[in-house]
Amino acid sequence: MATYGSSGAILRWFIDDLPFDKIERERIAGDTDLFYFLAGASFVEITSDLYTRILLEYFEGDAALTDWLRHEWEPQELQHGAALRRYVETVWPEFDWTAAYEDFRRAYGPLCKAELLGPTRGLELASRCVVETGTATIYSMIRDLTEEPVLRQLATLIRTDEVSHYGQFFKHFKRYRGDEGLSRTRILRALWSRLAEIDDEDVWYAFRSIYNLMAPGADIAAAYRHYRLRAHERMRACYPYDMAATMLLKPLALNWQLQRLATPILAIGARQLLRGTRLSNRLTLPRDPHA
Ligand SMILES: [Fe+2]
Ligand SMILES: [Fe+2]
Repeated sequence: MATYGSSGAILRWFIDDLPFDKIERERIAGDTDLFYFLAGASFVEITSDLYTRILLEYFEGDAALTDWLRHEWEPQELQHGAALRRYVETVWPEFDWTAAYEDFRRAYGPLCKAELLGPTRGLELASRCVVETGTATIYSMIRDLTEEPVLRQLATLIRTDEVSHYGQFFKHFKRYRGDEGLSRTRILRALWSRLAEIDDEDVWYAFRSIYNLMAPGADIAAAYRHYRLRAHERMRACYPYDMAATMLLKPLALNWQLQRLATPILAIGARQLLRGTRLSNRLTLPRDPHA
C-alpha cells in the first residue's frame, strides 16, 4: 500500500521503519567487499535526481509517465540511496561518506546525458525494463547472500520497489509499443544492445572514489580487478537467473514455443546483468579508460 511522505512523494516504506540499532555488526563489519558494494550502491541510487531530470525531459508531455517518475520513481530511488547510506554509516562509521560521494558525483555526474537514451520512447522504455531487471535481481541476490538481518530486510524492501518500477516501465512500454508499431525484432535489438552495453562504469567510479579515500596512493585499478573477481565469484551462486530471464522476456510478448527458443539466449543476457553487477539507474555510458 502506497504511503504519502511529507513532500507528497509516494513511498511504500520509510527509512525510520528499519531497526538500524539492531544491526548485527559482527556479521558484516569485516566484509570489505560488501562495504564497497553497499557504499557504491548508495552513491548510484542517491544520484537518481540526475537520471530523473533527463527522463523527465525525454518524456515531456506524457503526463502519466512523468507524474509517476516525479512522485514515485525518483523519491523511491532516492530513498534507496539514503537508506543504504545510513546502513553503511552505521556499520562503518569511520567511512567519510560525504567526501567520497562528492568525488563520485564530480566525476560521474557529467557523464549522465540525454543523448544516451534510446532512439524512440518505446525502445527507451524497453531498456528501462532491462535496467530495473538488473536492480531487482541484484538486491534479490544481496538478500540471499547476507546473514545480517537488517540488511536482508533492507534488500527485500528495495527489491520490492525495483520490481514495481519494472512493472510501471513495462506498462508504459506497452502503450508505446502499439503507438510506435514496434516489431519484436526492434525490441529484441534494443534489449540486447542495452544488455551488451552493460558494464561497470557506475560501479567503477564509485569504487574509485571510495578506495581513494580509504587507501590513498594505492593501485586502484588492480584493487578493483580483484574486488570484481571476488564479488562475481560470491554472487554467482545466489544470482536469480530465472527471475532475470522471465523479466527480460516479458517485453517481447512471446508465445511459449518462442519462449523456449529464446531462453538460452536470455540466460546469456542474465549472466551479462550479473557481470555488470548493475546497481541502479545509470544510463549507458562510454567506457572508462580503466577497462
Ligand atoms: Fe533503486
Ligand atoms: Fe528502480
